[in-house]
Amino acid sequence: MSKLDPAKEKYRGKFLLPKGQFVETPEKNIALTHFQDMEDMNRSLAAYLIEREQDKLGREGKQSFSKSTKIHHVDAWDAPGARFVDERAKALFRLITGLDQAVVDLSWANIYRQGDYIMPHAHSRSMGSVVYVVSMGDEDETDPMSGKFVISDPRLPLCCQADGRYMSNTYMPSLGAGSMIVFPASVVHMVTPYRGKSPRITLAWNINNVALKPRTERESYGIPPHPGKAKPRSLT
Ligand SMILES: [Fe+2]
Repeated sequence: MSKLDPAKEKYRGKFLLPKGQFVETPEKNIALTHFQDMEDMNRSLAAYLIEREQDKLGREGKQSFSKSTKIHHVDAWDAPGARFVDERAKALFRLITGLDQAVVDLSWANIYRQGDYIMPHAHSRSMGSVVYVVSMGDEDETDPMSGKFVISDPRLPLCCQADGRYMSNTYMPSLGAGSMIVFPASVVHMVTPYRGKSPRITLAWNINNVALKPRTERESYGIPPHPGKAKPRSLT
């Protein structure tokens, strides 16, 4: 049992895990919860991230026609709610793993525009990964599969429900603004092509219980150096 109790921890007077917060665990080490108190922070985070996205696209252009734009280092953002949601991701990691420490190896935002998607992949240098939804963007009447986060991993019973010997189904959690999901970093997941007009924005963390040695040059490709934590500021 963790010595720290994530359920009792606060950041700037606000509970990281509110009393009675329901956490669904569809499979061992996978947990999903929906925070109801993030509306104002999501609005601030979206405004901040869209500005950063536009700035990055203006300087570097889009990496490819299908790739979301990444803005790294959540705890360095000078935006209301950024430090809070960063603490919340670490608290959920500690709650699910029972570990005392949560050390973020890397965190970033994904801003998806129309046509963006991510092929099946897993995360390196990490025990657990957390994804938080700032905005799911627009639903698409003609494509209910637009912009879905999907776990598709034949090693998980969750994806082998027909007879357990092979992958018969994916796991597609119901996500909305305020949803947070934690899963082992080795779990294969993807995001289907997003068709909406407004941006679909998610945050992601790779977390361990100890700090890892610095990235090699090759591992650092596309990742700017961490500029240092942002000053604490009000949550909205
Ligand atoms: Fe991912």
